[in-house]
Amino acid sequence: MHLRQRSETHSERTRSEHMPVEQIPWWQRATIYQVYPRSFQDTDGDGVGDLRGIISRLPYFAELGVDAIWLSPIFRSPMKDFGYDVSNYVDIDPLFGMMGDFDTLLEAAHKQSLRLLLDFVPNHTSDQHPWFVESRSSRRNPKRDWYLWRDPAPDGGPPNNWLSEFGGSAWQFDNATGQYYYHAFLSSQPDLNWRNPKVVNTMHEVMRFWLRKGVNGFRVDVIWHLIKDAQFRDNPVNPDYTADQPPNQKLVPLYTTDLPEVHDVIRGLRKIVDEFPERLLIGEIYLPLDRLVAYYGSDLRETHLPFNFSLLKARWHAREIATLIDSYEAALPDGGWPNWVLGNHDRPRIAARIGLAQARVAAILLLTLRGTPTLYYGDEIGLAQVPIQPDRIRDPLGKNVIGLKLGRDGARTPMQWNAEPHAGFSQSEPWLPLTEDWTARNVETLKKDDTSMYNLYRRLIEARRRSEALKRGSYHLISAEGDVLLYVRALGSERMLIILNLGATPVAFVSTPPKGIVLVSTSGEREGELIDLNVQLGANEGLIIKLAPEVDLSSIEPGFQNSMSPPVIHANNP
Ligand code: GLC
Repeated sequence: MHLRQRSETHSERTRSEHMPVEQIPWWQRATIYQVYPRSFQDTDGDGVGDLRGIISRLPYFAELGVDAIWLSPIFRSPMKDFGYDVSNYVDIDPLFGMMGDFDTLLEAAHKQSLRLLLDFVPNHTSDQHPWFVESRSSRRNPKRDWYLWRDPAPDGGPPNNWLSEFGGSAWQFDNATGQYYYHAFLSSQPDLNWRNPKVVNTMHEVMRFWLRKGVNGFRVDVIWHLIKDAQFRDNPVNPDYTADQPPNQKLVPLYTTDLPEVHDVIRGLRKIVDEFPERLLIGEIYLPLDRLVAYYGSDLRETHLPFNFSLLKARWHAREIATLIDSYEAALPDGGWPNWVLGNHDRPRIAARIGLAQARVAAILLLTLRGTPTLYYGDEIGLAQVPIQPDRIRDPLGKNVIGLKLGRDGARTPMQWNAEPHAGFSQSEPWLPLTEDWTARNVETLKKDDTSMYNLYRRLIEARRRSEALKRGSYHLISAEGDVLLYVRALGSERMLIILNLGATPVAFVSTPPKGIVLVSTSGEREGELIDLNVQLGANEGLIIKLAPEVDLSSIEPGFQNSMSPPVIHANNP
């Protein structure tokens, strides 16, 4: 692999390495943790998590060491898409609690220096939102143009070929007024018309409502969807469509997502966030890297962090991951701060994607890459993707489109706290089942085991917190050979060498001396070990090695071989 040069060149352009620590925005130094409120902690015994539950678990975030939590939607909602269908943006759904509970949560979080981010869902509302109820009531209603209404095609069918992400046409006919409305997701989630200034102003006020309360920012739902083609042109057919893809991918979403005008809308959102000090705007965007980075904005006036989901789909191969990191680093605009995500409520759990043993290696990767990491609740205890019986499917996507196997419920199951009934999540049957191994796989049990996934996460977050090199040092790929990925994070004289075995075969890594001391290892057992001359890596093992100050980075020229053969010492740097 000869990617080193590009990574170094890019890192030279980045700003935060050279900034005094106090001037670096908090979110560039932070580890973010996503809470899926329905599944975090129930306190009222209805089997669904709530705000008081999150309050009761605040000490957990401090123990784990995360700096900010992002809550999936807690606003009033009929819950057709579990809160991503909002019927009142400035109220809390009774299922989760009351506004007073939210205020208590925010205050208590801030007291322990934990930042709180909300999930802002501006693309669509619920069909039960009063705005939509008005909008659909008559063609002349002042709110008619708040949504996207079109006449039927001449044959009475939908106005064009646009498809819903959740299956079928994206147009729903409304008998009362004889027109169709557009919904990118469920028909109960009509899309707002972001070309209407009244919608824009009203949504800006919604943001201010929460920002005034003191929330530290937003993760913005499907931000790249906000603007649709003004002429409502048909989307072209996708020539590369294969039957295993979701049906909406039969078309290329040329006229429904990632339109040039969306960037003006996002600049507008950013302006609101910037009216308040130190707030953060994150965008949910599923696009190829070259398109994704446009969402920083050419002058960094759009989202601070366009979520980088590239690891969610990556094949777990050292070379592929090295290339991906390098392409991302190279694509970032000047001063654009990177970020990495391993899991979320829409994608299968990391433990299911790559196996439990590799999920530990992935944890090291996530927490040692350059850029803000976002953790998904439960990944720190290795929660599995739980198989959901047909009668327990709750996810509308699972019901409508993809069927049993790929529905999202399996990644949204309750947090497992202890070995008490329902894993300490609730007093009664939870809304989704636990993992099979919940009596052993729970926070309380794993805490007691130094070698557990939970303790690995804790040590990794701590190592990152203590190390300026890990938080904001430059990234240098050393090599990606076979299953081994090797890179350095460096800031001044502090250098961390990260060695990850992405395979299940032990390897011997031999080099001119990468002298150092093991700071973190996957099992915890090698921490403190002095490293000299050669490194043996067990199956699925990863190490963070703090390099001795005298090590010359340019001298690290690795050679790898299977551990069955004797190690070779490279003599090219005597
Ligand atoms: C986002 C959310 C997802 C939701 C969809 C529609 O992708 O993450 O859960 O179903 O938007 O709101």
